[in-house]
Amino acid sequence: MSERMILGIETSCDETGVAVLQGDQVLSSVLATQTDMHSRFGGVVPEVAARAHIEAIRPMVHMALRKAGVHSDQLDAVAATRGPGLVGSLMVGFSFGKALAWGLQKPFIGIDHMEGHLFAPLLENPDYRPPAVVLLASGGHSQIVHMRDWGDYSVLGGTIDDAAGEAFDKLARFMGLGYPGGPAIDTTSDGGDPAAVRFPRALADRPFDFSFSGLKTSVVNHLQKAKAAGDLPPIEDVAASVQEAIVDVLVAKTFNAVAETGVPVVAAGGGVLANRRLRAAMETRAGEAGIELCVPAPALCTDNGAMIAAAARFRLDAGYEATWFDDVDPGLRLD
Ligand code: KG4
Ligand code: ZN
Repeated sequence: MSERMILGIETSCDETGVAVLQGDQVLSSVLATQTDMHSRFGGVVPEVAARAHIEAIRPMVHMALRKAGVHSDQLDAVAATRGPGLVGSLMVGFSFGKALAWGLQKPFIGIDHMEGHLFAPLLENPDYRPPAVVLLASGGHSQIVHMRDWGDYSVLGGTIDDAAGEAFDKLARFMGLGYPGGPAIDTTSDGGDPAAVRFPRALADRPFDFSFSGLKTSVVNHLQKAKAAGDLPPIEDVAASVQEAIVDVLVAKTFNAVAETGVPVVAAGGGVLANRRLRAAMETRAGEAGIELCVPAPALCTDNGAMIAAAARFRLDAGYEATWFDDVDPGLRLD
């Protein structure tokens, strides 16, 4: 792929991510996170998120350019997330990127956020190639994607209710562990017994789909009953058991897709892939199946500007031309 210098902007949810990519080198990648602003509400508040992006976008773009040692004149293109995501948040990064590109008279390209996640492993491992099965699991999305080639994807399955990260967040809130819930459950699970409570693994009859609402009900019922009986189990055992139930289905369904497609590579991305138990389980299963595993470092699993620039580089090389009339699409679908 080309040595173009691309500025990537990601503002689909609650992180303002900006990066400069040249060829496959990430020259800089900066992030303004809003976690503290949303934590007192126990989840992302769209209006708060959009306003925070407005404040962060200019300083973040400046910081990314300065850290990369690059002047905006040197950019070959500007890319920003087009969707899916929160409309107000998307509009901030997308409009800023478009205006910047217009001012520089350089191409502007809108990128599917999920395609960004598909490209993230490439930033650490230039040998990463399709065909692959990719598990994407975050606060807003949970999907299993069959990536036949760059730009050629089918979504094999996804969640029919909550995303995996959303399940972690809601369950952690119920357990009084705070927000964001994924990291809280991950740390609370340390030393806990994952087999203490056997929570349900849903949708056994649908090989590539997830459902987490039944798990939520089951945890709530279990804890309420235990409390009424004056027999609350240790919190680390509950956290470890909840985590095990979510990890189990994510891994099982991903490897159902691997078996179905016969791909030699399995990859993953999204914030939930920061989970240590999930990363370990993916590694074990990939080892057993004898296939290559590409799960990037947690900072590249969570939302960032570099993955948007990486997907843009592919799109530009492939001759994809954006028009100045493209707009954000909060409901954008990968396939
Ligand atoms: O990809 P991401 O940063 O943002 C989007 O939602 O797009 O993912 C955030 C989600 C949150 O739901 C958070 O609880 C979850 O990823 N998460 C984790 C961990 N770290 C973040 N879930 C489980 N274990 C973790 N260590
Ligand atoms: Zn994401």
